[in-house]
Amino acid sequence: SRKIFSGIQPTGSLHLGNYLGAVRKWTHLQKARENVTLCIVDMHSITMPHNPPMLRENIFMMAATLLACGVDPAQSTLFVQSGVMEHAELNWILSSLTTMPRLAQLPQFKEKSRRVKDVPLGLYVYPVLQAADIMLYKATHVPVGADQLQHIQLAQHLIRAFNTRYGEMFPECSPMIEENDASRVLSLREPSKKMSKSDQDPRGTINLSDSPELIREKIKKAVTDFTSDITYSPSMRPGVSNLVNIHSHVTDESIATVVEEAKLLDTAKYKERVADAVIEHLRPIREKINMHLANERELCYVLEMGAEKARKVAQHTMSEVKQRLGLGISG
Ligand code: TYM
Repeated sequence: SRKIFSGIQPTGSLHLGNYLGAVRKWTHLQKARENVTLCIVDMHSITMPHNPPMLRENIFMMAATLLACGVDPAQSTLFVQSGVMEHAELNWILSSLTTMPRLAQLPQFKEKSRRVKDVPLGLYVYPVLQAADIMLYKATHVPVGADQLQHIQLAQHLIRAFNTRYGEMFPECSPMIEENDASRVLSLREPSKKMSKSDQDPRGTINLSDSPELIREKIKKAVTDFTSDITYSPSMRPGVSNLVNIHSHVTDESIATVVEEAKLLDTAKYKERVADAVIEHLRPIREKINMHLANERELCYVLEMGAEKARKVAQHTMSEVKQRLGLGISG
């Protein structure tokens, strides 16, 4: 049977890209009664300079947001990475199964290392830790946005390398990236780039915690082009198409329907309509985030239960791994 694993960095609030590209898929899979494990990857978040009190706050914010989006801890396993030390342990073991040139080629590493003067080793090893996340739970499917493809391919390479050297132990893992395409939500200000937490211009990113007024403001200011009618053509008209894409996902209507219904509108009117739809979709989520945040004890309880479930699986995998490698004195 399928085992689904995915991770998300505790960046505080989710943005619409994380939400449509990943989190919504997770809740759909959970509804379909799949075996889902979700990890808030705080150890990945220290690979770039960070602020400790903020990180802690962001972990709780992310947990509250995931619950508000419909992640159900009774059905899925939701936990914080640093609470399960096997992640770091397997990371070390996998680091001898790949090479430095392979890691240096990865596009996210290239992009992020350009932003710091001295590149931390952790930033370099980042995708190896990500492979450890996936392998500890012997995941077969990894639902992510398009930007994570190369990282999942590295995990596939490490799985093959491990199985070849030490005997079949890990199943192949497949990325789940849709074609249609919530997998790539673009910045509202620079629609040639993905929507991202680290966008220079905060107006490019819609956060799930943004007020309705702020969401409307950001959508109004979204960069489009000099044609006023609404069409869908991601390569020719990325700005407008991004709005159509977002609109279609928050209303659960097809792209064709959304475009047909916007036939008589110009871009300014259409932006109003998209803003209404996004605000309506996010309203109940925003209320639930606040409700969960107000109850830190419940959040701690949920995350501790999740870590306990995760630890059982992770410890089992690690003892198998150590045996295969001839590490230690047991077995
Ligand atoms: P992170 O925290 O950057 O993003 C979480 C998820 O959101 C997706 N995403 C997007 N999807 C569509 N459009 C966008 N603009 C957009 N921006 C982000 C990401 O693809 C991701 O699925 N390295 C990972 C976290 C991670 C992980 C893992 C994922 C650690 N270990 C193991 C899968 C399996 C990351 O930084 O995601």
